[in-house]
Amino acid sequence: MAIKIKTSEQIEGIRKSSHLAAKVLKHLEQYVVTGNTTKYINDKALEFITDHGAKSATLGYKSHGSPAFSGAICTSPNEVICHGVPNDYTLKDGDILNIDVTTILNGYYGDTCKMYAVGKVSESAQSLIDVTRECLAIGVKQCKPGNRFGNIGYEIQQYAEAQGYGVVWQFCGHGVGIKFHEEPEVSHIGQKNTGKRMKPGMIFTIEPMINEGIAECIVDQKDGWTARTRDYKLSAQFEHTILITEDGCECLTDVYGEY
Ligand code: MF3
Ligand code: CO
Ligand code: CO
Repeated sequence: MAIKIKTSEQIEGIRKSSHLAAKVLKHLEQYVVTGNTTKYINDKALEFITDHGAKSATLGYKSHGSPAFSGAICTSPNEVICHGVPNDYTLKDGDILNIDVTTILNGYYGDTCKMYAVGKVSESAQSLIDVTRECLAIGVKQCKPGNRFGNIGYEIQQYAEAQGYGVVWQFCGHGVGIKFHEEPEVSHIGQKNTGKRMKPGMIFTIEPMINEGIAECIVDQKDGWTARTRDYKLSAQFEHTILITEDGCECLTDVYGEY
């Protein structure tokens, strides 16, 4: 299957949904504080998404025989890499938390995630967050027509491993917009100058997951979703939805002008 080239009408719809997803992340900042459960934050997210005429793409989502996902967002604290299920986990001072939001607005998908610090976090946790944010920025720099997808993973892996971190390879970025997960798979590790070429109108996510220790993960047997580091060390992630334009890219989930 080929990678879809979106029409201008589809791009406009995906841009709006992406902006909303980014606004959800901003809105949730006030609730990521000591004493709140991840379920409480989930409920605040669902309320905001619904109030803006949208739906959550993760609520009831099924993939590869896993049970339907029960959250309107993913909440992944500390050693959780991704797909954390909102539950009665109560945030405490020093925690780091990833929140991942995927909205469906007028049928179009927008997907983004970022890290939050609860109270005062350790220097090592802050470094992991900063390097992971930079990994996403390094990936976005590779986004321009004619460049090959393998260069995204190559550059991210070079940078993260040079800092002594592990790059998760079991989960990838993905085409997005008309469906939740479309082609291509966007790996965060890789070889220089490999893979398909980027073309204007392609829309996909980059979402590096970077571990303080080893790259390997284990998926929780009980909920079927929560992926943790195998060594229980910390993990961080940032994600943007990216449109390839004629002369570079537009970061559709960057409503605050970071890019
Ligand atoms: N939003 C995640 C991604 O970036 C996928 C979450 S699927 C879920 O691809 F079911 F775990 F919510
Ligand atoms: Co994604
Ligand atoms: Co996501």
